[in-house]
Amino acid sequence: MATLEDGVSPTQTVVPTGDVIENPRRRDYLKVAAVSFAGVGAAVTVLPLINSMNPSADVLAQSTTEIDVTAIEPGQAIKTSFRKQPLFVRNLTPAEIAAADAVPVSSLRDPQTLAQRTREGHGNWLITLGVCTHLGCVPLGAGEGENRGPFGGYFCPCHGSAYDTAGRIRQGPAPKNLEVPNYEFTSPTVVVVG
Ligand code: FES
Repeated sequence: MATLEDGVSPTQTVVPTGDVIENPRRRDYLKVAAVSFAGVGAAVTVLPLINSMNPSADVLAQSTTEIDVTAIEPGQAIKTSFRKQPLFVRNLTPAEIAAADAVPVSSLRDPQTLAQRTREGHGNWLITLGVCTHLGCVPLGAGEGENRGPFGGYFCPCHGSAYDTAGRIRQGPAPKNLEVPNYEFTSPTVVVVG
C-alpha cells in the first residue's frame, strides 16, 4: 500500500486497493484559495491607483477651468462645472442688463450691482456658481427652456428662491446672491475661472 513516504502528495489519496488517486475536493479548495488570494492582491494593488487618480483637496482648490464662450448667444447660458460644482455662464441681453441696473441696490437682500458682479468690458457675461445659497440645490434657468423664475434669472425648484438677471436673490429663503467665482477673460472669448 502506498504511503506519504512513498511519494503521495497532499492532493492525493491512497484508496483501500493501494492505488493513489487525485483528491479533487482538496485540489478545488487550493484553486479557490489561490484565486481568492489573487483577488485580494488585485484589490490592494488597484485601490492606491484609483486614489492616485483623484485630485487631492489642495490640487482641486487650485484648479482652473477654461471656457470658450464663443457659441453662447445673447440670452443663452450654459451649465458647466468648476471644482466639481455647477457653474453657469450667461450672455445677458441688453434688456436683461437694463433690468438688473434698474433695481435700487438698497432694496436688495444682498446688495450688489451687476457691475460689481461682472468684469469691466465684459458686463454682459454673468458667471456664477449654479448652487442655490439656501441649501445648495442647482437652480433652473441655465438650460434651454428652463424656468427662470419671476425675475428672469434663475429659479430654485427646491424651496422657491428666485434670482434676477444679475444672479441676485430677490425672493425665497436663499440669503445670498449666487456666488461669483474668481475669473478673468484671457481673450474676448475665453474666460479662465479659478
Ligand atoms: S435650496 Fe434653493 S431654495 Fe432651498
